[in-house]
Amino acid sequence: MIEKPLRIWYNYGNYRKAVSLTGEKVSLLGSRTILSEVLYNLCDNGIKYNVSGGRLDVKISHAPKRAIITVSDTGIGIPKQHIGRIFERFYRVDKSRSRKIKGTGLGLSIVKHGVMYHNGTVHVDSESGKGTTFTIELPIEKKTNEQGENI
Ligand SMILES: Nc1ncnc2c1ncn2[C@@H]1O[C@H](COP(=O)(O)OP(=O)(O)OP(=O)(O)O)[C@@H](O)[C@H]1O
Ligand SMILES: [Mg+2]
Repeated sequence: MIEKPLRIWYNYGNYRKAVSLTGEKVSLLGSRTILSEVLYNLCDNGIKYNVSGGRLDVKISHAPKRAIITVSDTGIGIPKQHIGRIFERFYRVDKSRSRKIKGTGLGLSIVKHGVMYHNGTVHVDSESGKGTTFTIELPIEKKTNEQGENI
């Protein structure tokens, strides 16, 4: 599930950025295709809207009954007044700043719907000029037998 997002690093080979992936192995029920799209889009943004010499860190951890994934970059950040709208389809923050950076404004809408499909939540923390962290929480369903016992 996490190999594909890391591959985008090579597509942006001219950029000098460090990508790291840390965390524990987490298993959950869901769609590998959709979750790959979610991670791909967050990593794609974390690299595209980054600065030379910047970092992208992806961390996966396990909490009671949920998996927590953070995708954190040291890039250009998102001004506060735009944060409420970035998950809308076709919304891009600032046409002049985005002109050089290609995109259709659909990535975060895919993220939002992919997370909703898994009954999860997505949260964003960002500071203009400092960076952005997206946090996804996905419930881990326990498998139970007919008696309701954990298996
Ligand atoms: N990590 C980030 N750092 C700074 N700005 C971001 C980040 N992620 C998203 N944004 C802003 O939010 C907007 C919407 O992001 P989204 O991924 O939906 O679209 P996009 O990257 O422009 O295009 P697409 O993903 O369809 O190629 C972006 O245009 C960008 O302005
Ligand atoms: Mg995008």
